[in-house]
Amino acid sequence: MHIQFTSIDIQNTGTLVIGVYENALSTMPFPQFDEKTHQSIQKAIQLNNFKGKKGESIHINGIVHQQIEHLVIVGLGELLKWPSLQEKPIDYREVGGHVFQTIKKLKTENVTICIPKLGAQTQDDDFPQVLMATGLKLKSWQFDKYFTKNKDKHAIHIKNIYICVENPTQAQKLFNVENEIVEGVFLTRTVVSEVPNVLTPAEMVRQAKELSSLGVKVEILDEQDMRKLGMNALLGVGQGSMQDSYLVVMSWNGGAKDQAPLAVVGKGVTFDTGGISIKPSANMDEMKFDMAGAGAVLGLMRALAGRKASVNVVGVMGMVENMPSGSAQRPGDVVKSMSGQTIEILNTDAEGRLVLADALWYTQDRFKPQYIVDLATLTGAIIVSLGHEHAGLFSNNDTLVNDLKKAASKTGESVWHLPLGAAYDKDIDSTVADVKNIGSGRGAGSITAAQFLKRFVNDVPWAHIDIAGTAWDKKAKPLFQPGASGFGVLLLNEWVKSFETN
Ligand code: BES
Ligand code: ZN
Ligand code: ZN
Repeated sequence: MHIQFTSIDIQNTGTLVIGVYENALSTMPFPQFDEKTHQSIQKAIQLNNFKGKKGESIHINGIVHQQIEHLVIVGLGELLKWPSLQEKPIDYREVGGHVFQTIKKLKTENVTICIPKLGAQTQDDDFPQVLMATGLKLKSWQFDKYFTKNKDKHAIHIKNIYICVENPTQAQKLFNVENEIVEGVFLTRTVVSEVPNVLTPAEMVRQAKELSSLGVKVEILDEQDMRKLGMNALLGVGQGSMQDSYLVVMSWNGGAKDQAPLAVVGKGVTFDTGGISIKPSANMDEMKFDMAGAGAVLGLMRALAGRKASVNVVGVMGMVENMPSGSAQRPGDVVKSMSGQTIEILNTDAEGRLVLADALWYTQDRFKPQYIVDLATLTGAIIVSLGHEHAGLFSNNDTLVNDLKKAASKTGESVWHLPLGAAYDKDIDSTVADVKNIGSGRGAGSITAAQFLKRFVNDVPWAHIDIAGTAWDKKAKPLFQPGASGFGVLLLNEWVKSFETN
């Protein structure tokens, strides 16, 4: 599916999509249509009780004007209620998602989309249409590589999308930048969707190395390197698996030499069986997405390098597989982490925090970053609290919380700030070691997990984002089909922007 920009309203063939505002149906601006066409459109509007509300659409076949096969009219909601582009780019992207969903089943090759000025768009500014194009592209992604039969059932027939703008050259230029971010999201979705017999820690290493061609510096720490550094918390999680564990360090140095980097750290458990504290078999397949934190870090680095962001960012991924076996760690084991703190393992299924303990410590110790943000599918409890609508946000720094919340509301990758505190911290004190890897009670599982991580960031301004509920959704959302969302790339890309020098 190729997206391009055009200043011509109607291509001669194919599908035409037009947008209309609520309560503005009579002023539908299409003088090109002849009288007969206008009448059939008005009739379809009446018959379908179409009001132009956001999310509404109607579809008219075999329109008489020129050779348009399908005419699709989408509702844009009330013009005056449109937020500004700076405030809510997400709303502009969602129009594209909605358009794609409306046209995806059509057996048509060419689609022209003419959406009138969106919100308070000025005459020569095509950025709203560019954002719409990115939303459309985001929504079109699907993971279909393993279908060998009935390919047609899953195929999208659309080949060319033409988007009407004032200045196609300028729009294309703007789109090229936004498209790099989309490619980052796609990379995240691809690795998160990839099946666990293929997507091993070694495969993630290979994926990371591919980013070198974009100028990302990629360093790999293997088990021997990590043993030397004392990363026994991370190594303990992987020790039951036939797959080797890795720490992947990616650096994008687009900023000034003396600028301390931003650091982003991801949990990369390529499959989480729970280990000896094995999970129930129902839905265990879902634990292939337990590397979605690392997946988001990878996609973010792809996006930043692709758009040549003028900022220094390190992306670190702790890659392991959590398996039960004769060499697996036991409940009751005590390991010494790179920080020197000893950890009593009381549940081998609370493994993400063990991986992050060493990944976070290493990152702050080596890079002295301005901020560290970690992304992790850390707890089932966050799904109990927030469902699939918000990721949980935990932090030791108010500025970081506010900045991340701002980026979240712009991008639609929502976060909800949850508390940390001394009482929760006490809950993870161990009787035999410095800390234990689960809380003692049954409540606040996401908070005690975050509290555990906090002990490994050494007072660096840090935020932890628990994406167990948002990385994967069985239901479709405005910008993705059921499955991997790519959560974290848009959010952190937006956050990073505020540190860029131009
Ligand atoms: N990977 C899981 C958390 C998870 C659950 C992610 C559902 C995505 C969907 C994590 O490693 C885990 O198993 N956490 C345990 C912690 C418990 C043992 C303290 C959990 O949430 O049950
Ligand atoms: Zn687990
Ligand atoms: Zn896990």
